[in-house]
Amino acid sequence: MRLYDIIKKKRDGEELSKEEIDFFIRGVTDGSIPDYQISALLMAIYFQGMTVRETCDLTYAVRDSGEKLDSSQLRGIRVDKHSTGGVGDKTSLVVAPIVASYGISVAKMSGRGLGHTGGTIDKLEAIDGFRTTLSEEEFVAQVNSIGLAIVGQSKQFAPADKKLYALRDVTATVDSMPLIASSIMGKKLAADDDCIVLDVKTGSGSFMKTVEKSRELARLMVDIGKGAGKKMAAIITNMDRPLGRAIGNSLEVIEAVETLGGRGPEDFTEVCLTLAGYMLSLAGKGTFEEGRDLARRAIGSGAALEKLIETVKAQGGDERLIREPERFRKAKFSHAVLSAKSGYLVSADTEKYGLASLALGAGRNTAEDEIDYAAGIILKKKTGDRVEAGEEIATLYADREDLFAEAEKILLGATEIGPDRPADEPLIYDVIE
Ligand code: URA
Repeated sequence: MRLYDIIKKKRDGEELSKEEIDFFIRGVTDGSIPDYQISALLMAIYFQGMTVRETCDLTYAVRDSGEKLDSSQLRGIRVDKHSTGGVGDKTSLVVAPIVASYGISVAKMSGRGLGHTGGTIDKLEAIDGFRTTLSEEEFVAQVNSIGLAIVGQSKQFAPADKKLYALRDVTATVDSMPLIASSIMGKKLAADDDCIVLDVKTGSGSFMKTVEKSRELARLMVDIGKGAGKKMAAIITNMDRPLGRAIGNSLEVIEAVETLGGRGPEDFTEVCLTLAGYMLSLAGKGTFEEGRDLARRAIGSGAALEKLIETVKAQGGDERLIREPERFRKAKFSHAVLSAKSGYLVSADTEKYGLASLALGAGRNTAEDEIDYAAGIILKKKTGDRVEAGEEIATLYADREDLFAEAEKILLGATEIGPDRPADEPLIYDVIE
């Protein structure tokens, strides 16, 4: 078999066999296929798509590209959540501790920023000392003792996805339904959790721009998970505006801590309560409403915040940053973005907001780029808010003042101010169970 022939077949819109997909993923994993051929096939898949059968075979090949977590080592029922990626999406930092505070194991493998979206691992690395790589023994021991561990993708689990994820990020092949479904579900099946809640984002800041496409992706992933014997739910959430007010790594950790303290932005808190409610419900803690109520109580009592602190401490992070978030290193410079006119904030192209944050140094443009953890944006106005001419829309943070001009241009170009207040949009569009 030659990868050349497989690329040509997909380029011409034909269906790949299981053997061809297995050959591809084996070659990605053992390094025998060069990056340029992997990238060419990713682009062919991007344009031609895949059938459900091909997507399932790709998912299983990604899952089987490494070891499967030996779940018999872990105590009790295990629940996980995964987002398809958004801007300002720091939900894992809130929902994982909420769920773990009820004695349910959350053995979480998370990703780094992808395209214009942020990643949980980059956010956690904003906490000094936090180790996002643990050995399997350490990971299992931590989940069994405190109920929560969050690590980056390791070489043992779904290693093919690690390679594909990094290449997709730099070859504009992220927003493809079969590639997203196989990436997420390949990892989730390797982690072998009992219950999985998917946060499928929809809108300008997500990889699926319409509710219909997001629903299709959600249904595909739920079916793959159910086919593998998992309890599944997928929540379709609004990403036509950033979630919360903070975009950028340490800024988002601070907002997550405020939310666990009961002082979070309304939209972000609501998405967290919904996700945690479904996670708790799938894990046997009653109906969704009961799960949601438990989630609210874990915030109110401070139990969820204590669980995050315990986790940060267990993974070597400086817990004082969580207890007193004002200790996070601040960016050297800040810059106020002002509105040129009065009116209502009618729409925000959220992907561009993510790109503005990247331009400030909060994310990577190439796989080798270093992140400035303190860089990012705090939104002062969001869609639907009244704005007066000269009023601040957002504050930008960076260690280099020369980065502000470009980020400001992107942000202003992505923000529409008009005379009429836009109609309210739903925060949660649908739930696929
Ligand atoms: N998250 C993933 O893990 N993979 C994707 O492809 C998109 C979001």
